[in-house]
Amino acid sequence: MKDFSGKIAFITGGASGTGFGQAQIFSEAGMKVVFGYVTESHMVEAMAYFKEQKADVHAIKLDVMDREGYARAADEVERLYGSPPDLLVLTAGVNAFGPVEASTYEDFDWVVGVCFWGVVNGLITFVPRMIKAGKGGHVTATLSWGAFNADPNAAPYTASKAAILNLMESYQKALKPYGIGVSALCPANIKSRIYETALKTRPEHLKNTGYNVNEQTQEYLASIQQHGMEPRLLAERHKMGIESGQFIIVPYSDGPRMVEIEIERFMLYASPEGTRLVEDRRGQPPSEEQLRMMSEREGYEITLDTPSIFTTDSGFAKARGDLDWVDGNKKP
Ligand code: NAI
Repeated sequence: MKDFSGKIAFITGGASGTGFGQAQIFSEAGMKVVFGYVTESHMVEAMAYFKEQKADVHAIKLDVMDREGYARAADEVERLYGSPPDLLVLTAGVNAFGPVEASTYEDFDWVVGVCFWGVVNGLITFVPRMIKAGKGGHVTATLSWGAFNADPNAAPYTASKAAILNLMESYQKALKPYGIGVSALCPANIKSRIYETALKTRPEHLKNTGYNVNEQTQEYLASIQQHGMEPRLLAERHKMGIESGQFIIVPYSDGPRMVEIEIERFMLYASPEGTRLVEDRRGQPPSEEQLRMMSEREGYEITLDTPSIFTTDSGFAKARGDLDWVDGNKKP
């Protein structure tokens, strides 16, 4: 998709962070933007911004786990603009940090519910409508660098993102004949408010967590995220990726090389010697090249002396206090 002006975009999670940056950039490109939100205060703030810009932007309350809500949102887009969106941006997401072995069903149900099912629900709601409209268009999802990198401290999250990468490739193959492009945005640290979600948007019936989550751990997460990429810059790079017809959009200076390093791991895992090599490497310091790439992804300089974000005494990414069988010393 190269021409955005006058077209319609639908963005999930568009009231904050990444989605808000996307709403700004696509609106500035001349699109009519409709975004879904769950947090009222985020929506009020975002809409105040767009009103000041005199931008053609609408907000619809939409929890991406709610399929009927999705259908109502899609009907509303058609009622507002007479047609389904040309650009579908599936961005809403939440995260939760803690040892995978401490995870509860609810940790998986919540994170997978938003990050995996929330995207699937969007695809099932909108893609048939886009095909029937016969206008072509583009479908994109916001994944994460975690799609390439299984993280035992955020496993439901990285598993969801990896699954969505695979799913988006299926859609990419399937939708090309309809003239609908597909892309997967894979950023690392972003300056956003995702640290709020564990305490503010996690539904009551999914609150039972195996992780140590409290104001202090979320403040620690916020302190890391303040170094992250500005959502507007991320959205500009996202838009450029869409324009250039790229499937995997890694918004950094050497995306293909970054991916190559991660994919090499899978090649090695496919033999016993290779598996041993990967395991041996885990305890070794990163190379100069890896340090440079990690610094770019996280947004601050990482050296051999920088401690891992998972080894602080903030309590971040630890197990819930009463799970005394989880051995903190065995943290990978
Ligand atoms: P954010 O929290 O600032 O924005 C996400 C929005 O989604 C918020 O407005 C939130 O209220 C909304 N949301 C939460 N649960 C929802 C639900 N069930 N249904 C609909 N909306 C819901 O966070 P951020 O970081 O901008 O997240 C956007 C996407 O970026 C997510 O998919 C996240 O996984 C991804 N991402 C974030 C990274 C980061 O460092 N912040 C890194 C890599 C990817």
